[in-house]
Amino acid sequence: MREAIHNLEASKIREVANAGMGRADVLAFWFGEGDEVTPEPIRQAAIASLQQGETFYAHNLGLPELREAVARYMSGLHPAIDAARIAITSGGVSALMLAVQALVDAGDEVVAVTPVWPNLTAQPAILGARVRSVPLVPKAGQWTLDLDALRAAVTPATKLLVLNAPNNPTGWTLTRAEQQAILDHCRSTGTWILADEVYERLYYEPTPNGCAPSFLDVAAPDDRLVVVHSFSKSFLMTGWRLGWLVLPPALVEGMGKLIEFNTSCTSVFTQRAGIAALAHSAEITPRVVAHLKTCRDTLVTLLAELPGVQVAPARGGMYAFFRLEGFDDSLALAKRLVGEAGLGLAPGNAFAPQAQGWLRWCFASRDPQRLVQGVERLRGWLDKQARA
Ligand SMILES: Cc1ncc(COP(=O)(O)O)c(C=O)c1O
Repeated sequence: MREAIHNLEASKIREVANAGMGRADVLAFWFGEGDEVTPEPIRQAAIASLQQGETFYAHNLGLPELREAVARYMSGLHPAIDAARIAITSGGVSALMLAVQALVDAGDEVVAVTPVWPNLTAQPAILGARVRSVPLVPKAGQWTLDLDALRAAVTPATKLLVLNAPNNPTGWTLTRAEQQAILDHCRSTGTWILADEVYERLYYEPTPNGCAPSFLDVAAPDDRLVVVHSFSKSFLMTGWRLGWLVLPPALVEGMGKLIEFNTSCTSVFTQRAGIAALAHSAEITPRVVAHLKTCRDTLVTLLAELPGVQVAPARGGMYAFFRLEGFDDSLALAKRLVGEAGLGLAPGNAFAPQAQGWLRWCFASRDPQRLVQGVERLRGWLDKQARA
């Protein structure tokens, strides 16, 4: 096996989950998905497609109808985007991998803003790139970007800058001014930007267009920018494996070839479900986001009342990222919480070494009472530690 694969770190989130999966008494918030099934009209569209016998291979870049529908949807949120720039992929994670395959050679330098979902740093490493990190800095529980540190790290030697905002796990988001500054800098160094914006609709700040600031709002179509999207989060479709890329026109033909050699195409019934999701987005997504905001506020308010906790409300995404005074080893703490409190959280150091001591709690819960129960378990466990 190649050394790069051999050196891949096993998932620390899995390590915690393996200790508690299948145990009915554990309240699990470790993975990044909610517990609500995909809305009915989306499921019906997939069923109808299968009933009609749509069981064959399809276009590499996706059904023209879905590419058109995605372009219309994106153009409603951002400056107009042509359907010819859209590639449909088998999930956001495949979109990310395809982008990295298209842009990065073995030995290239990639800079990633961290903490971040581990796939974003593992994928360039799999291809043999050297991945360097620009760490976000926590200030009173809110993670912030040091723009000067990013400018210093991204040089003409940097092939690709990887950013995920709204961010998993910290809830960090970018402002439009920061995006403009990053774009200007990357234009001057000739660096590609890979912007993972899968959480753009899960944004809790007031905004006219119902989504987080996007690089698409500041970039020109032929900038060195690839934006990754997913149906997973805004449409409750994690298990479907459906996402898309927004590409500069010059990358589209090559991307079609790459998709041929990765997955060939996304299954047609899944794409039909995607068309239905977009057709119903005005009902589905605002409801999902309003509910997630209730979940976030419920959880963060209760967490903030615990002794020695450092936490701030996430501006976007679906995670509370927090730390507890006196507990500096995330993995050990997460394992103890599973074993001793029946509470399943993800260890912060799964997302970057500098997040050692932090924990991630996915607040996408159909019933916010589960979150209340989870905090009660944590409070009870902390009380026991204080008494011991
Ligand atoms: C930051 C980020 N990007 C991309 C994805 C990929 O989502 P999917 O492959 O389900 O579309 C996830 C999933 O958790 C994520 O957190």
